[in-house]
Amino acid sequence: MALLELQDLGRTHAGPGGPVRALDGVTLHLEAGEFVAVRGPSGCGKTTLLLAAGALLRPDRGTVRFGGADPYAMPPGPRSALRAAGIGFVFQQFHLVPYLDVLDNILVPSLAGAPPADARGRAVELAERLGLSGRLRHVPAALSVGERQRTALARALLNRPRLLLADEPTGNLDPDNGRIVLDHLAAFARDGGAVLLVTHDAGAAARAGRVVAMRDGRLAEQ
Ligand SMILES: Nc1ncnc2c1ncn2[C@@H]1O[C@H](COP(=O)(O)OP(=O)(O)O)[C@@H](O)[C@H]1O
Ligand SMILES: [Mg+2]
Repeated sequence: MALLELQDLGRTHAGPGGPVRALDGVTLHLEAGEFVAVRGPSGCGKTTLLLAAGALLRPDRGTVRFGGADPYAMPPGPRSALRAAGIGFVFQQFHLVPYLDVLDNILVPSLAGAPPADARGRAVELAERLGLSGRLRHVPAALSVGERQRTALARALLNRPRLLLADEPTGNLDPDNGRIVLDHLAAFARDGGAVLLVTHDAGAAARAGRVVAMRDGRLAEQ
């Protein structure tokens, strides 16, 4: 059994100009320790795929299994708990809480699910690993964009997830910071985690162990 199993996913959005088929029969399996990139142009369905995989957006066809369990077959409470304990998210726009400093942003996931015993110690250690030790009391507006994304990455790692979902995580970064973020994704997979990266960027996708092309809501293995 793979850690993440996406089986024949379909999802149609109700758009202003009529229905938009964002996912059209997507099947993808991820094992623990795998770093997989889904690469495709803007609008091909990457974000929809990631949200469906992360138990944030119910597909209208097919099944998602994470660790053997179908999050969409669960009531909302257990579904959120599964997400909080098992899945970390990194987004292009960081999604940090603007009025919390770096340390408290990293600690946000400890408010849900089953936080690590020493969440604060773990947050400080992650900040150090990501080069943020001198920024713990800065709010996001006082950080460089690279520091903001490294904060978001530390937050995603706090609860020791089994899966990282990354949506264009290098889209707003300079090459050096982009490389740092991709290095950390690769290291997470080397340590036994699974990474699903979606991106339009060929260079970022090339860091993955497996690249899958996406077009018009469908996948094609490369
Ligand atoms: N909430 C939504 N409502 C209506 N249409 C949407 C919504 N989200 C995405 N879409 C449409 O679905 C398609 C896929 O979008 P998306 O998954 O965001 O693609 P990508 O991340 O590859 O750019 C696009 O045509 C987009 O406009
Ligand atoms: Mg997108």
